[in-house]
Amino acid sequence: MTLTTSFTNIQKYMPVIGDMSIKTPIAYRSTRLMASLVNATQMTLGEAYVQGLEIPDSLFRAIFKTSMTLFFQYCPGLLAPYDWVLEESDKLAESSRELMRVQYDLPQAMLNQMLGDWSVIYPKYSTGFWQGGATTLEEAQMHMIDQVIDRLGITDGDNILDFGCGWGCVPNYILSKFPNVRFTGLNLSHQQCEYMRQKMEDPTSYLSSGRFTLYEGDLNEAQFTEKFDKILSIGVFCHVGNLTGAFQKLASFLKHDGKVLIHIITVKTPNNMSSGFTHKYIFPHGRYWNYDAVPSCNRDLKTIDRWYMNGINYHKTLTAWLERFDAAQDQVKTLDYAMDYGKFRRIWRFYLLMLGTIFATCDGEYNGNGQYLLTHT
Ligand SMILES: C[S@@+](CC[C@H](N)C(=O)[O-])C[C@H]1O[C@@H](n2cnc3c(N)ncnc32)[C@H](O)[C@@H]1O
Repeated sequence: MTLTTSFTNIQKYMPVIGDMSIKTPIAYRSTRLMASLVNATQMTLGEAYVQGLEIPDSLFRAIFKTSMTLFFQYCPGLLAPYDWVLEESDKLAESSRELMRVQYDLPQAMLNQMLGDWSVIYPKYSTGFWQGGATTLEEAQMHMIDQVIDRLGITDGDNILDFGCGWGCVPNYILSKFPNVRFTGLNLSHQQCEYMRQKMEDPTSYLSSGRFTLYEGDLNEAQFTEKFDKILSIGVFCHVGNLTGAFQKLASFLKHDGKVLIHIITVKTPNNMSSGFTHKYIFPHGRYWNYDAVPSCNRDLKTIDRWYMNGINYHKTLTAWLERFDAAQDQVKTLDYAMDYGKFRRIWRFYLLMLGTIFATCDGEYNGNGQYLLTHT
């Protein structure tokens, strides 16, 4: 028996260790039980922090870094707090309206302060790319979009769909570079759409060029009469629970020789992952697909290339957001969060600190971003 075969056997019969998908029913159920305990521990820590537990950021980071190193390397199954994280959901995206309420339709003045809002780079709620030498958040976001342009092979004249377009940052930047590109943006967030509608009236914005069309609506129901040369979707698939259905939909929007670029948070473990704290307070039904999930789903679209972007990039981005969030307290504390501001602030600090630390764990080699280039099968 080779060393690999014996490790596969250990994973199969032993709870907790290794790949969930090959476990015997007893080992699977025991691992699920342990995952609930891990989740309960994280929730207890998170809620104690929200209630006012004083813990220095450095200690917070040390706790998460140490525990996540063990989970990533030896027991990734414990990072799936609920059964639904391991399976495809019925709907393409679950809890969409709740997600808008809890997250994307929060006071925009707070989100815009945190994410940054510049003349061409509008608030962008996805990682910047720092490994190309960027020294500021704005620059890191430009470098990230430059990489998307390159990898998706955008050329002047393309008709492009941005599936989950945020505040229109990516369309605005790309329209500024290509005078004949046309963009359609889809977004369910009313507040973010209001931001873009204002920009569509602002002559200094490329969204006002007549080359940008906005659809406010749910990706579950999205339909378009035209077909696109290119489709990009950045930071949206952590809200998509059904890759098979989503790819079927995207394929129906794509020209026969078109290309799709999906950029997602990913995890290089055998299983998908999530967090009870972010599910409850930040991203209802949010999940991080494992790095092989997209290429494994190849019915209507197939992956022809993929890239792993090291998690240090998101660590730096989240660190910049946390600094900006902390620095903006005086301006944002009077806004309406439908809860006491002190509580809101601690929920968000926990979220930004936790995710920022997890991305840097194991030098960013386990939790980072995946970019996938897809075409029709
Ligand atoms: C993490 S943000 C990324 C935004 C943008 N792509 C960027 O990089 O800045 C996810 C976006 O997906 C949108 N979104 C989430 N669920 C959606 C749904 N069910 N239908 C349409 N848009 C959705 C959110 O409103 C938000 O704009």
